[in-house]
Amino acid sequence: MRDLDLSSSATFSLNATTAPVTGAGAAAPTAARDAVRALRSSQIREVANAGFGVADILPFWFGESDRVTPAFIREAAAGALARGETFYTHNLGIAPLREALARYVSELHGATPMENVAVTSAGVNALMLAAQLVVGAGDRVVAVTPLWPNLVEIPKILGATVETAALGYGERGWTLDLEKLLKALTPDTKLLMINSPNNPTGWVMTRDEQRAVLEHCRRHGIWIVADEVYERLYYGEPGERTASSFLDLASREERLICVNSFSKAWLMTGWRLGWIVAPRVLMDDLGKLVEYNTSCAPSFVQQAGIVALEQGEASTRALVANLRVSRDHLAAALAKLPGVDVKVPHGAMYLFFKLEGAQNSLDLCKALVREAGLGLAPGSAFGPQGEGFVRWCYACDPARLDAGVERLSRYLARR
Ligand SMILES: Cc1ncc(COP(=O)(O)O)c(C=O)c1O
Repeated sequence: MRDLDLSSSATFSLNATTAPVTGAGAAAPTAARDAVRALRSSQIREVANAGFGVADILPFWFGESDRVTPAFIREAAAGALARGETFYTHNLGIAPLREALARYVSELHGATPMENVAVTSAGVNALMLAAQLVVGAGDRVVAVTPLWPNLVEIPKILGATVETAALGYGERGWTLDLEKLLKALTPDTKLLMINSPNNPTGWVMTRDEQRAVLEHCRRHGIWIVADEVYERLYYGEPGERTASSFLDLASREERLICVNSFSKAWLMTGWRLGWIVAPRVLMDDLGKLVEYNTSCAPSFVQQAGIVALEQGEASTRALVANLRVSRDHLAAALAKLPGVDVKVPHGAMYLFFKLEGAQNSLDLCKALVREAGLGLAPGSAFGPQGEGFVRWCYACDPARLDAGVERLSRYLARR
């Protein structure tokens, strides 16, 4: 009965004549369970809410491009709807999509049979399913931060405890202290949650770091959930199509669950389509979890996913080229402002920069919304290690970025 909260209980009334009939369930708490109430709510939302009623805002707070999904993908979904593709599908996804994903992943990261691939309702659902597969109450999870909050909060929903190992910030931007991470990955750790290329920092894990972490996790039987939804948003050497992946190093049958999504590389955030690569031994159980979470991804969306994979390479490459231009443009403009310390990262679609006066980044971002009409995400939304920083999503055209920088510049001059 620890979570009984009389002040919010519907069975508690000062007016005896209107009091509800009480019975055996009268003392039942009306609130959600402790683990759910303890979840952090989104500070990005909090900033966005501060913007209600402000007429003119330039929002760069969410992780989403301002461009619509390419027409050929939208047409594929429309065609599937017109053909009547409106029914439930197999829990793990329709076979042609699983096959197309297997081909795509094999091409990028080595042989991956469709039996190791499952379709999900985008990346966030894939993360939840991955955690549900391997984590239970009381388990110890380690997450590398600063980090998109979902990876830290999802294991807590399942009753796990989450320890963090922080990236460091210095002259070379955000870097991993490998020794510190390996030390945090104690033998009693159940799972490592790691996201590279990283939201919010843009940090990209090197292949050597991945190898060292994989070997350590193998030795201690620790699961890895690798969130690689930004793998294609990678600004490496010419010809490099993707950031280094744990899939490049691991076999398909070891303790690795790789999470990916159509949201970022094909501009399909609103479609809710993603996938998991995992050992075959998990697949039957994963099918059960999909059944009890969503039953399947929408069937016409899955059809569009096949077309995205088979015809989308040129548009993904063009997107990444544009993002690189936007990243460089924004970084150069921000670097000219006093009090800004910005480094150019090699992945994702954010600049996560240090801003003088952002010791309380939530308050600062709310003030930027109200007083400058500029929407940024506070660094503290990504864990205490992000405090003092703000995140700017640069997935839009340079003219819009310029308008945002102008607002920031005026605000800083007034301060
Ligand atoms: C690190 C990371 N993982 C996963 C996701 C999930 O995206 P979606 O659910 O749209 O696939 C996001 C979205 O911003 C993200 O930043």
